[in-house]
Amino acid sequence: MTFDFNDKVVLITGAGAGLGYACALAFADAGAKLAITDISPDALDKAVADLQENGAEVLGLINDASDCSDVNTMLDAIVERFGRLDIAVNNAGTATPLQEFHEVGEAEFDRVMAVNLKGVWLCMQAEIRQMLKQGGGRIVNVASATSRNTFPNASPYVTSKFAVAGLTRTVAVEYANRDIRINAICPGNVATPLVVSLVEDLSVLATKHAINRLGTPQEVANGVMYLASDLSSFSTGSLLEVDGGWNAI
Ligand SMILES: NC(=O)c1ccc[n+]([C@@H]2O[C@H](COP(=O)([O-])OP(=O)(O)OC[C@H]3O[C@@H](n4cnc5c(N)ncnc54)[C@H](O)[C@@H]3O)[C@@H](O)[C@H]2O)c1
Repeated sequence: MTFDFNDKVVLITGAGAGLGYACALAFADAGAKLAITDISPDALDKAVADLQENGAEVLGLINDASDCSDVNTMLDAIVERFGRLDIAVNNAGTATPLQEFHEVGEAEFDRVMAVNLKGVWLCMQAEIRQMLKQGGGRIVNVASATSRNTFPNASPYVTSKFAVAGLTRTVAVEYANRDIRINAICPGNVATPLVVSLVEDLSVLATKHAINRLGTPQEVANGVMYLASDLSSFSTGSLLEVDGGWNAI
């Protein structure tokens, strides 16, 4: 399926690697103008260079999605460069090493919640303020198959992703009559740097999915683009599973 995002201004947070980078490539191929962020300068520089080599128009911003002033500065920079923000993909995320619940340190819990939950909350606030000024927009939050399912020994991550689902649904209702559609994508496992750093044997993860394999970054990007496009014009507050049937098991 081909999507057309010609001249749409698309923000993707945490796009220096993994799913965010895959989304950036996919939106660029569909004609979008990109603003991409990452907390890692090296990852951001490489992603910007690769996207530009691919012909994309891209603004790269070093940014911590969990820092309010950073997030507001990010929005200002996007509006200064492009004049508007049509689509935002709140993708930046992190996790703790797998650990039994009673062993998890408070700092680890706080770190995951700061990026995965507060980061989405802060980004949505800044994005919606701009979208209200311009009369509409589309937001896709990157939640997880673990927004509905359990994953033992990943309690901070699962907690944060359940919360992102609730946040997405309730905020979507608040702005549904102002042409701001807000949905979440719930991916199954994909072999990104995040997952590879946490799990030694990826074949074990494959068995969680009815399709019995991991997903690809492109399969997740396809779902994100669907939610950002007019093909999903009657969807808001939805959680779209792109999880190889994990949620159905
Ligand atoms: N990979 C999977 O299997 C999977 C499954 C479901 C959901 N997700 C979600 O998808 C999103 C992307 O995950 P990924 O697997 O591509 O991870 P990744 O670690 O491969 O890439 C995430 C990027 O986000 C950046 N980042 C981290 N903290 C940040 C912050 N505070 N501000 C800005 N950027 C920051 C990292 O530097 C990195 O470049 C996350 O929200 C993750 O929870 C991933």
